[in-house]
Amino acid sequence: MRGTRTGLRTLSNMCGIIGYVGEQPALEVVLSGLRRLEYRGYDSAGVAVVGGGVLRTARRAGRLANLEKVLDESGEQMPGTTGMGHTRWATHGGPTDVNAHPHTDCTGAVAVIHNGIIENFAELRSELEAAGHELSSETDTEVVAHLLEIEIARAAAAGPAASSVSSGSVSSGFGQPVASEHPVTEALRVVCRRLRGAFTLVVLHRDHPGVVVGARRNSPLVVGLGVGEAFLASDVSAFIAHTREALEIGQDQVVEARPEGVTVYDFDGTPVEGRRYHVDWDASAAEKGGFPYFMLKEISEQPEALADTLRGRLSSEGAIVLDEERLSDQDFRDIDKVFIVACGTAYHAGLIAKYAIEHWTRLPCEVEMASEFRYRDPVLDRSTLVIAISQSGETLDTLMAVKHAREQKARVLAICNTNGSTIPRESDAVLYTRCGPEVGVAATKTFLGQVAACLLVGLFLAQTRGVLYGDEVAAYVDRLQRMPELVRRTLGTVEPVRELARSLADAKAVLFLGRHVGYPVALEGALKLKELAYMHAEGFPAGELKHGPIALIEPGLPVVVVVPSPRGRANLHGKVVSNIQEVRARGARTIVIAEDGDTDVEPYADHLIRVPATSSLFAPLVTTLPLQVFACELALARGLDVDQPRNLAKSVTVE
Ligand code: AGP
Repeated sequence: MRGTRTGLRTLSNMCGIIGYVGEQPALEVVLSGLRRLEYRGYDSAGVAVVGGGVLRTARRAGRLANLEKVLDESGEQMPGTTGMGHTRWATHGGPTDVNAHPHTDCTGAVAVIHNGIIENFAELRSELEAAGHELSSETDTEVVAHLLEIEIARAAAAGPAASSVSSGSVSSGFGQPVASEHPVTEALRVVCRRLRGAFTLVVLHRDHPGVVVGARRNSPLVVGLGVGEAFLASDVSAFIAHTREALEIGQDQVVEARPEGVTVYDFDGTPVEGRRYHVDWDASAAEKGGFPYFMLKEISEQPEALADTLRGRLSSEGAIVLDEERLSDQDFRDIDKVFIVACGTAYHAGLIAKYAIEHWTRLPCEVEMASEFRYRDPVLDRSTLVIAISQSGETLDTLMAVKHAREQKARVLAICNTNGSTIPRESDAVLYTRCGPEVGVAATKTFLGQVAACLLVGLFLAQTRGVLYGDEVAAYVDRLQRMPELVRRTLGTVEPVRELARSLADAKAVLFLGRHVGYPVALEGALKLKELAYMHAEGFPAGELKHGPIALIEPGLPVVVVVPSPRGRANLHGKVVSNIQEVRARGARTIVIAEDGDTDVEPYADHLIRVPATSSLFAPLVTTLPLQVFACELALARGLDVDQPRNLAKSVTVE
């Protein structure tokens, strides 16, 4: 059944992927596709082409231009009409040549590119190395190439009648009847059943020109259907210059692409019909997933960005693991004070982290704007942990704070969205958010990633210091992993917020009030409105109102109040309801964000915005969302460019 898709729900992206099979020179098609995909990830790039019985690969750290320069200078020919390419946004392993995709097996016959996170790659890698395979990169992806090598060899040895379903070990018995005639398709289908996590995989084999095979789970994969050619890509922008006929690949499906067409199977081997549709986006809209602005796309990606950040954080022993740890557990147990340093939105995430860290670890925790930190000569020593939060990993204020902390012998833990950037490299331990590149200057999905990462660090510290038992930590992580669905549900209810924002396009100012973790959310809501709509906005602790700011209240002034859960600290909730009454009694137009079922606020809310009930410390993951949408929509109503606000840069690399 064909349809026209204009606003596909985009899945979070971390890397750009394109596979091609047809009659054109594959290298040219792949490189042009990667140029369209580079916004998705750009810390390394690579290509692979099959031709003349040879599988040729080239890969380089840095932007795609680095790779193209190497290809031009080497003069190396990569003839063939079957190929694939990858631009990387690193999650496992820094942005180096060795970690760049594609990755190959021991024989060099199989090449794999990957977008996503394979949660069980460590155990798979151990099995492979125990079986004599040598893996050269730090990536999770490389294990797939070697598993395919084994599967293809086994199927060949076992004969054409059966495939094997690995039952938890690298070598195993036979499984269900062969689904596809093609050994690589069958091998990929079987291998995918062993992988946990999120992946889009595309595979080439030296001995099989004219075939590109792909598979997906929790990560995007779309097929371009040309005349005498086919494309596999992470999004349509890679191939709409060639064809606008597309096929959606569903969860847990494998696709075998040939010039004459494609066949699709589920991971059980049952042939399935993919959903065909016509792409009516232009190239620019395609990069934005059909949204008019990257910021709108990135707001919509938050469920996946959060899920990816939380994915695979518990070891097989049930302990939270960081991405990089150059400190011992004893180093963490010796910590007697925590500082958090960050700027802007990241600073607001740090304020939320403070509540969690103090509540779970009983360690004193101070949060400092990085630009102020080192000038007040803080008391730091080897028992101090400084947590640096930075999406870009390049913010100079934060980097200088980290350098100062290290000079004072403090331990440094970085929370960052950019693998291999400067701040993580300067740190003793790292937890990466996995939100994918954030193109909009105003932070949205990376804020949610930072909040989730801060909560994970708080649980990590509590578990390492023995303040929380393993089962308590696991219970918190389990509740956290249900948050992406609540984020998705909240984003599905924000249309009234957009209407409200448009009605306030001419407002002169907006105040934001909150208490406890709602106070940093109020600050973040105010910052969003300032940086996007160029409107004066200010966030206050609601309890501070009576100490001065209430003088600002005048008839008609919009006041946003982020209300804590009545199930949390009840006395806090009652105080905030009183604060709403106080401002409303003075004529304010109250915009109240409150959890489902909180009826106390109803008499005082001129506009009531509902969010799902959650644990107190997790509430910012949903209460922030209406404020992002409010600021974005109000800015759009003012005719402003929400992706590139005036005077702002995505990464502030000056002090
Ligand atoms: C927030 O929307 C801004 N983009 C800005 O405040 C940003 O959070 C701040 O500059 C810190 O950037 P970083 O996370 O890359 O360090």
